[in-house]
Formats: sequence, structure tokens, C-alpha cells
Amino acid sequence: VTAHFQQRGDVAVLVPAAGSGVRLGPGAPKALRPLGGVPLLLHAVRRLAAASSVAVIVVAAPPADVAAVRDLLAPATAGLPLIVVPGGAHRQASVAAALAAVPAGPQIVLVHDAARALTPPDLVDSVAAAVRAGADAVIPVLPVVDTIKSVDADETVLATVDRSTLRAVQTPQGFRRDVLAAAHADAVDPHTDDAGLVEKLGVPVLCVPGSERALKITRPFDLVIAEHLLATEPATRTLPS
Ligand code: CTP
Ligand code: MG
Repeated sequence: VTAHFQQRGDVAVLVPAAGSGVRLGPGAPKALRPLGGVPLLLHAVRRLAAASSVAVIVVAAPPADVAAVRDLLAPATAGLPLIVVPGGAHRQASVAAALAAVPAGPQIVLVHDAARALTPPDLVDSVAAAVRAGADAVIPVLPVVDTIKSVDADETVLATVDRSTLRAVQTPQGFRRDVLAAAHADAVDPHTDDAGLVEKLGVPVLCVPGSERALKITRPFDLVIAEHLLATEPATRTLPS
């Protein structure tokens, strides 16, 4: 971190981006695949850098692409410090590697999937604000719209789940830094969700409204939706190039 970096927000954002994207099909690591000609990770980092709460961005990159990712993102962080570390074998290991690289200072840490490439900066700031206001852990959620059934091994329905009590969970997820560190220190089995680790500590997790624009690009169909979202994105803030 050198002197020309601006001091703005109070939040460190970890960006797990080391996955291969098996469900998207053969090709480059998912974070480096293009959407509208721009790698997903660059979309994600531009929007994080446009959020006023963010002070530093730590990316967990595919280990073979650490230098390339640094070159790709360095011009796109609007002067914010950027740290790129090699990711791990599963998402939780990538988050742990990024968490270990957070500099002293920020007491709020957000974890944000590179695959949620079009997440609006306002959602980043609203999650951070809920932590700042006193929550230990905050997740953005959407209501579940489909009817949900539980089934047995033969695909026979066991029950219809009351969807009014269900939420679909997005990122960024926000945490008090010490809470996230304790959750990762305690982790045994790999989790795909940081709030899940925090729940195991018995710490309450607060839900705030998510955004349909924060969808996770997982399968080829999601790229089709994301192309449309990109074309219809509200130009409420200037994104760094
Ligand atoms: N991730 C990571 N390190 C891993 C695995 C996943 O940093 N070893 C990241 C992905 O890059 C992604 C986020 O975690 O930004 C959510 O994971 P997911 O959408 O499952 O991405 P992939 O694991 O790449 O996709 P797939 O499961 O289809 O292979
Ligand atoms: Mg995965």
C-alpha cells in the first residue's frame, strides 16, 4: 500500500475467484470468462470499487493466474489497494487465504463471489452498513418464488416445504472481522457459504434485501440472463474503467 492510494471506506472485501466453473462448461476459469467482452472478475471488482464503503479488495485467484489477475484488475480499482493471492482447492480455502491477507485496519469484512459479477455497488454498501450498525453477520437474501419439495433417494416427495420461511442467499456477506476469523478458525468441513460457518458459532445472522442483479453466474443460461442485465444496468454510478 503506497501513499497515492486514497483512504475512503472502512471495509475489506474478499473476492473468491479461484473456481474453475465446471457447471459453466469447458473453458478458462470462470472468473476470467467474458461477459459482454469483459472478464466476470473485472465486472465484479469494478462494482466493488464503486461502493463507497470499500477500503481494500483482496482477490483469491486461480493459482496459475495470480499475475494475470493482478494486471487485469490493477487499473480498475479506482485507486483502492488491491491484493491478489492464490486461491485454494475449495471456496472456503480461497476465502481463508484472502482473509489471511487482509491488512491491519478494517474491522468489517465482506465476502463476495466473483461469479456474482453484476452485483450493484448499492448492495455492497447496504450489507456493510448493516454490519456497521451493529450486526455481527449480514447476508443479502431474496424470497424463494418456486414451490419447494423435499424428496427421498427415489425422487418421491416427502413434503412440501413452507417457502414463506425460506430465503435464497446471495453475496456479499458481511461480518465483523473477528467473527469471520473465528468462524474460519473453527471450520472443519468445507462450506460454500461463510454465514454457514458463523451460524455454527451460534452467532446470529441478519438478512437484508438482496438484488436480482446479484445473481450467481453458474450455468450457461445464467450468462444469457447476465448479458441482458448488463445491457439494462442502471447507470447510477460511474464505474472505474
Ligand atoms: N471459488 C474459489 N475457489 C474455489 C472454488 C470456488 O474462489 N476453489 C469461488 C468461485 O471462483 C466463485 C465462488 O467461489 O466466484 C462461487 O463458486 P461457484 O459459483 O461454485 O464457482 P466455481 O466453483 O468456479 O463453479 P463450479 O462449482 O461450477 O465449478
Ligand atoms: Mg463451485
